[in-house]
Amino acid sequence: MTATVIDGKAFAAKVRGQVADHVARLKEAHGITPGLAVVLVGEDPASQVYVRSKGKMTVEVGMKSVEHKLDADTSEEDLLAVVKSLNEDPEIHGILVQLPLPGHLNEDLVINSIDPAKDVDGFHISNVGLLGTGQKSMVPCTPLGCLMMLRDHHGSLSGLNAVVIGRSNIVGKPMAQLLLNDSCTVTIAHSRTKDIQDVVRGADVVVAAVGRPEMVTGEWIKPGATVIDVGINRIDAPEKGEGKTRLVGDCHYDSCAEVAGAITPVPGGVGPMTIACLLANTVTACCRANGLAEPEGLTA
Ligand code: GUN
Repeated sequence: MTATVIDGKAFAAKVRGQVADHVARLKEAHGITPGLAVVLVGEDPASQVYVRSKGKMTVEVGMKSVEHKLDADTSEEDLLAVVKSLNEDPEIHGILVQLPLPGHLNEDLVINSIDPAKDVDGFHISNVGLLGTGQKSMVPCTPLGCLMMLRDHHGSLSGLNAVVIGRSNIVGKPMAQLLLNDSCTVTIAHSRTKDIQDVVRGADVVVAAVGRPEMVTGEWIKPGATVIDVGINRIDAPEKGEGKTRLVGDCHYDSCAEVAGAITPVPGGVGPMTIACLLANTVTACCRANGLAEPEGLTA
């Protein structure tokens, strides 16, 4: 079998289009412009690239974009004051504090200081609890993007065996919860899981989010299964020339694509969906804040 390629880049463009349409309606009918604030502490190059990209796409869909760039040695008190001012700003509907934070800052404390209604990352303990009890919440962007692609491909996910590889708070745990809420039978596998190949081989849906390059190979995959690869790993690529690198996922693409029914590529799979879902969450937060109907198909 050669797997259907799930085109995350095209899917993300479609989601951004839906977001832009909704933003235009909010402006026209209600005079409201959704606003997203991103807080970046320090100069981590990967975070800087990511934040720039977020800002550009926020503006492209017609939303207001605010960036707070703080020095790496910013005190917790000063960072909390920035979050507080954004919590109180009526023009800001979504707040994202880019992680990881420098080591002297308490991430949990900072994340939990964000107004849960503006927590477009869905990391606040209130949103984690709401998602865990099947209530309306803000949903973490990467798992939301995976869910959208899975629903689009399968229609209903009810009754499917899903294995999530990885147990992070950002991806693995919320992904498992979303799949459970969609009536999958869910297993979370991780670095200590015994006979992990056999566990994964039982899955109709595999979501790999471990951060280990090409760990999952075709032999692990049940024929016809759907493989969602969240990993983005840079590895040496001597075949491209000395010192060259390439991006790979947590799944070995070629061998998995031979067995799977559908697969997301890296790059161009899950990656582009994360920012698209951040924008979707910002519109959702804005609608909720104003007591307006939420955009359809853009929430869990
Ligand atoms: N760092 C890497 N991914 C993310 C994310 O989704 N949200 C935030 N806030 N920081 C991140």
